[in-house]
Amino acid sequence: MADLSVNICGIPFKNPIIPASGVFGYGREYEQYYDLSLLGGIATKGTTGSKRTGNLSPRVAETAAGMLNSVGLQNPGIDAFIANELPHLLACDTVILANIAGATAEECAEVAAKLDSTGVHMIELNISCPNVKQGGVAFGTSCTAAAEVTKAVRKATKKPLCVKLSPNVTDITEIARAVVSEGADALSLINTLLGMRIDLKTRRPILHNNMGGYSGAGVFPVAVRMVYQVANAVDVPVIGMGGVMTGEDAAEMMMAGASAVQVGTAIVQDPYAPLRIIDGLSEFLDANGIDTAAELTKSVKPW
Ligand SMILES: Cc1cc2nc3c(=O)[nH]c(=O)nc-3n(C[C@H](O)[C@H](O)[C@H](O)COP(=O)(O)O)c2cc1C
Repeated sequence: MADLSVNICGIPFKNPIIPASGVFGYGREYEQYYDLSLLGGIATKGTTGSKRTGNLSPRVAETAAGMLNSVGLQNPGIDAFIANELPHLLACDTVILANIAGATAEECAEVAAKLDSTGVHMIELNISCPNVKQGGVAFGTSCTAAAEVTKAVRKATKKPLCVKLSPNVTDITEIARAVVSEGADALSLINTLLGMRIDLKTRRPILHNNMGGYSGAGVFPVAVRMVYQVANAVDVPVIGMGGVMTGEDAAEMMMAGASAVQVGTAIVQDPYAPLRIIDGLSEFLDANGIDTAAELTKSVKPW
């Protein structure tokens, strides 16, 4: 059997498949289905300085090939996360990527500083949430703001820092370069694409927030393209995500440049998706005589 292990920023992962932030909570709901130690890692729900209740409902809408969400970073706040969720997560024998966000660079830095003395393996700084009024995507669509928040968080923690990028930009490589120049150790992408649906009878947007983030199978080609562009623009590892539904999708994302792959909407549709994708990746490697998952990374042969 092929070796699925990968190493990112010196952190060993058993396999490259990680449930994405926001679709897996803090893992508890999924333990009834399977042992979380089978996962390559877990990216936790975005956590902010204090508790947030998120946006008004309806907060999700279906689309032909995915979904829209406008959850808006509902979470219990960093102190409750550290006290009530983290001990349990750290006992799961998998890599924990603590996803953080904030309305200001100072808030993000404060959250990162609190995590610095915990056992989380990596901090994933979300500068790309389209569903909050302050911070969020406002950080991720300006090189200056993206650099500033990365600089503030970099100062606050020695943990490996992964910055999560927004696809809602003209040139994602500019933002990638800006955050790497301020000390990002890795990049993850893509967050959701800004989208909208309208109820034909009421003529109201389906989401109470009017617009929301589009994710799932439909965004896969956009995500592969952006991972490819970013992996060729910077010299740090890239964690790819966006519409990965199968082991073959994960292999394709890795060929484009990803060292590991996060899985989001596929889990909303099927809680077993991460395990199915791990098995599918393993079968793909074996069927093609490839010894290690790691050798897929950036192995695309452009024309
Ligand atoms: C319901 C929902 C909630 C999300 N919440 C977060 C979040 O808190 N922080 C974050 O960085 N990304 C969040 N995301 C974005 C996902 O982590 C991922 O980047 C995106 O959905 C693309 O991957 P996918 O197509 O596999 O879902 C959320 C996505 C969904 C669908």
